[in-house]
Amino acid sequence: MMRTHYCGQVTQDLVGDTVTVAGWVHRRRDHGGVIFIDLRDREGLLQCVFDPDTAEAFAAADRLRSEYVVTITGRVRPRPEGTQNTGLASGQIELLGKSVTLLNRAETPPFHLDDEGVGEDTRLRYRYIDLRRPQMQKNLRLRHRVLKMIRDYMDAHGFVDVETPILTRATPEGARDYLVPSRTHAGEFFALPQSPQLFKQLLMMSGLDRYYQIARCFRDEDLRADRQPEFTQLDLETSFLDMPEIMALVEGLVVQLWRDVMNVDLGVLPHMPYAEAMARFGSDKPDLRNPLELIEIKDLVADSDFKVFANPANDPKCRVAVLRVPGGGEKLSRGEIDKYTAFVGQYGARGLAWIKVNDAAAGREGLQSPIVKNLSDAALAGILERTGAVSGDILFFGADRFQVVCDALGALRLKVGNDLGLTQPGWKALWVVDWPMFEWDDKAEPAVAGGSPGRWISPHHPFTAPRVDSAEQLRNDPGHAVSQGYDIVVNGIELGGGSVRIHRPDIQQAVFDLLGISPEEQQEKFGFLLEALSYGAPPHGGLAIGIDRMVMLMAGGSSIRDVIAFPKTQTAHCPLTRAPGEVDGRQLRELHIRSTAKRDAPPVDATPT
Ligand code: AMO
Ligand code: AMP
Repeated sequence: MMRTHYCGQVTQDLVGDTVTVAGWVHRRRDHGGVIFIDLRDREGLLQCVFDPDTAEAFAAADRLRSEYVVTITGRVRPRPEGTQNTGLASGQIELLGKSVTLLNRAETPPFHLDDEGVGEDTRLRYRYIDLRRPQMQKNLRLRHRVLKMIRDYMDAHGFVDVETPILTRATPEGARDYLVPSRTHAGEFFALPQSPQLFKQLLMMSGLDRYYQIARCFRDEDLRADRQPEFTQLDLETSFLDMPEIMALVEGLVVQLWRDVMNVDLGVLPHMPYAEAMARFGSDKPDLRNPLELIEIKDLVADSDFKVFANPANDPKCRVAVLRVPGGGEKLSRGEIDKYTAFVGQYGARGLAWIKVNDAAAGREGLQSPIVKNLSDAALAGILERTGAVSGDILFFGADRFQVVCDALGALRLKVGNDLGLTQPGWKALWVVDWPMFEWDDKAEPAVAGGSPGRWISPHHPFTAPRVDSAEQLRNDPGHAVSQGYDIVVNGIELGGGSVRIHRPDIQQAVFDLLGISPEEQQEKFGFLLEALSYGAPPHGGLAIGIDRMVMLMAGGSSIRDVIAFPKTQTAHCPLTRAPGEVDGRQLRELHIRSTAKRDAPPVDATPT
């Protein structure tokens, strides 16, 4: 037998026993004639001591180096008084080593596992070593536990796990596709699924009633801390349930997971309309732990001489909003305000007007600001009253196109909340509902070639059902149509999203038309779905939760890479396997492909986090 116990499981109960442990040399210390080996396995560390009087074992221990793989047999004994380590499960005891078997040597590792400052490229290059770190082991085991609980919950609620193809056609989730060239069909490509969306809808038409899958999804998009090119969803779909019923099923799962894994009660999740989330928080995934809110002041500055405010105040596509930061007037220096001005610039804001409220009772004289001279007494009084500003506060202003103000002040809200410690610890979850069916994107390519620029786009995907049930109504007023979509948001992170789907071909057709998908394209890309809808499609709907994001939140991490065993870098590269890599000419020829790439070209789309 190679081992009797895991290192981390050797505790006081075993004092006096002889045990054999196996693992990696975490650290070797030579303490004046006594050698200490901290042996590590997945359950923890065990301190092993070697005396010179067991000469053979002592000599073997002396030759050990970091990350050597060994088994050690010895007797468990209490640590001497004063040398206990309360931070370790095995901290009360140690192993008096009697024999050591060297199973494998290791080169000097590129970094020590206790070193917190190792660059991520090095960690990913030597991921198999990085994953030996206790935190990483903990993350992977947490992920396993979460998946196990999900499977149990889904099974208990009658969901059937069905696998769907990886080699498939494009699925419209809004990102670029990863393509796989076909050898047998020259010039044709599979697309890797951005999600199993269409297949799960087809499964509802197959009468499966409740489907789920822990599904891998592939999206070629600009990467960020919470985005990977391949990631995992809990993907689910149900038939004959309405929106509240589907949401209740999902909420039940999420609440149970937080309770069982985190010992946290998320409570009943509030439902917030999309418009309210944007108005109050400038975000469709508001972090409700942060108490700051955006306040609209368009009406107060509409007839002002200050064009920076008055112009957008008179433009229906714009908004003028204030973010009041309690105590910010006292805490923030000019230099910090300048940094925030540069920060909002990243979101397209052309400036960041501000007013420090030094003395709220002193009227104009009590205000310090580059813009008060431009504003009337009435406007200033109105702003102070509406924002509830008191002495010591600062007000930040955004005046621009609606989305620019939301993005800029929404991001500033989060940043200032963190910088000034205003954001509360803990958990805040909610549903965002009443999404618009369509948003007008005036920068988008025209829907028809040569047409005027701009087109409707869907904030979810084009299979999301509108609240209206006539195609006529939808076509008449797409701008006001509200969808039956819902997103679940935890601490400002979009955990998951879904919707009731369109199950009638005429409505699906209307949505495709409004999105500017030509009849030919509809047939070419989604003909099979339209056809399936015409053969008896039940009302259905579902959702997908980002597993990586959920486990990241639970692990207290800030990047999903920390909860994925072998993730990719910001440029969608794997430093370990060095994928993607070149292939030889013969392989390309078989696939009917010729590369036009220039060697040594830098990676494209390298977006910093
Ligand atoms: P959606 O595109 O909103 O919906 O994706 C659902 C959830 O998946 C996670 N997610 C990601 N996680 C890591 N890296 C990525 N690149 C990434 N992209 C998305 C998010 C997100 O909330 N088919 C629909 C679901 C449905 O309608 O049922 C879909 O995929 O947590
Ligand atoms: P200016 O009139 O350009 O000197 O700007 C006066 C103040 O308004 C400065 O503090 C700018 O940062 C700020 N500012 C300019 N444009 C905007 C805008 N679109 N939104 C908010 N503040 C702005």
